[in-house]
Amino acid sequence: MTADARELAAHFDLERLTPEFYVNPYPTYRALRENEPVKRMPNGSYFLTRYDDLVTAYKNTKAFSSDKKREFAPKYGNSLLYEHHTTSLVFNDPPAHTRVRRLIMGALSPRAIAEMEGDLIRLVDGLLDAIEAKGDCELIGDFAAAIPVEVIGNLLDVPHDEREPLRDWSLAILGALEPVIGPEAFARGNTAVKDFLGYLETLVARRRAKPGNPERDVLTRLILGEATGERLTAKELLHNCIFLLNAGHETTTNLIGNGLVALSNHPTEKQRLIGDPLLIRTAVEEMLRFESSNQLGNRMIVEEVELGGIRMQAGTPVTLCIGAANRDPAQFPDPEKFDIGRAPNRHLAFATGAHQCAGMALARLEGAIAISHFLARFPNYALSGDPVRGGRVRFRGFLRVPCAIG
Ligand code: HEM
Repeated sequence: MTADARELAAHFDLERLTPEFYVNPYPTYRALRENEPVKRMPNGSYFLTRYDDLVTAYKNTKAFSSDKKREFAPKYGNSLLYEHHTTSLVFNDPPAHTRVRRLIMGALSPRAIAEMEGDLIRLVDGLLDAIEAKGDCELIGDFAAAIPVEVIGNLLDVPHDEREPLRDWSLAILGALEPVIGPEAFARGNTAVKDFLGYLETLVARRRAKPGNPERDVLTRLILGEATGERLTAKELLHNCIFLLNAGHETTTNLIGNGLVALSNHPTEKQRLIGDPLLIRTAVEEMLRFESSNQLGNRMIVEEVELGGIRMQAGTPVTLCIGAANRDPAQFPDPEKFDIGRAPNRHLAFATGAHQCAGMALARLEGAIAISHFLARFPNYALSGDPVRGGRVRFRGFLRVPCAIG
């Protein structure tokens, strides 16, 4: 541990990040992991960077709560943003969480996901045709971001001509989860929840009047509930539909964008995948590990607990740094190496435990089809300018990536 790394760890504050950190947070994560893995921040919260500590926190839902009502009250006040974020399943504990999760997992069944593959391939190939016709591409707008919005739109069967605002609503609502937000981001987030709720109320009313096929249409399935009679309340239904749309958007866009940029930056691994396309499964896992699209998770300590020799009191917020845990050498040999054949690869990009991503099978399918089809069509693709980062710490990805298709 050098003096520089010690300094980096000592001065780390999630509320005061440097421009260099946004470009490359990994040296800081490493310094923290090696020097202060259970880091107390100036605001009194803890920042965890070791793989084993994250697993402990994710699995101990009694001490590490996901319920954000207390934490979000001062941040959002009595607003629609507050109502949304405290009603979605990800920010609740059992028993509320267990019931909603069961209904959502039932709707995202392997069968429902397998049903999507044909549409997904058509969508991806259509985008590739348009890129080929244009002669070059902007990887995010023309490709990575164009996929998840359609996939989730299909999942809830949102009519095609009504999908346009979904992405902006989603970005505004998730943007309000950044550690620090100004009045503009707050207002944007709130307006987005209001507009989104208004739209979904109409969509749900239409679907109640004319139900779809519950095997394919997740919204119909959520409206009908389980055969046992278990159902979401009207408020739970709307906010969890918003959450599904949001959870599947930016994260999956970032998986596809980060994955294609990582391949381009590692030409040997790119050639390896071109030579052996069956490696796509482990390649997607490595992309999720190496540049995790969702870098931070949050929990609140609700009963005193010890981690890494440090006793943490009830009422203390904790940030779980997935980006750091996924490069922990105690779990991943040679963690800074991008190795598309890495196995085993038990990364935490989808978290673990009770809240493990409910859409991970769908995300993996989207990532595998998008990346493998792009590579098969444009094996000589190369970045043609500097990629522009999204400038967020929680969701790591690019806003724009100019690309030549060769
Ligand atoms: C690469 C893409 C994705 C990544 C990296 C990702 C990551 C995550 C993570 C880390 C969590 C746990 C949050 C926490 O408890 O702190 C989560 C939860 C969740 N994700 Fe994903 N996700 C992705 C795609 C999707 C998609 C496509 C969907 C839906 C179709 C989805 C639906 C959900 C849901 C419903 C939860 C909440 C589960 C619960 O609280 O029980 N995700 N995701």
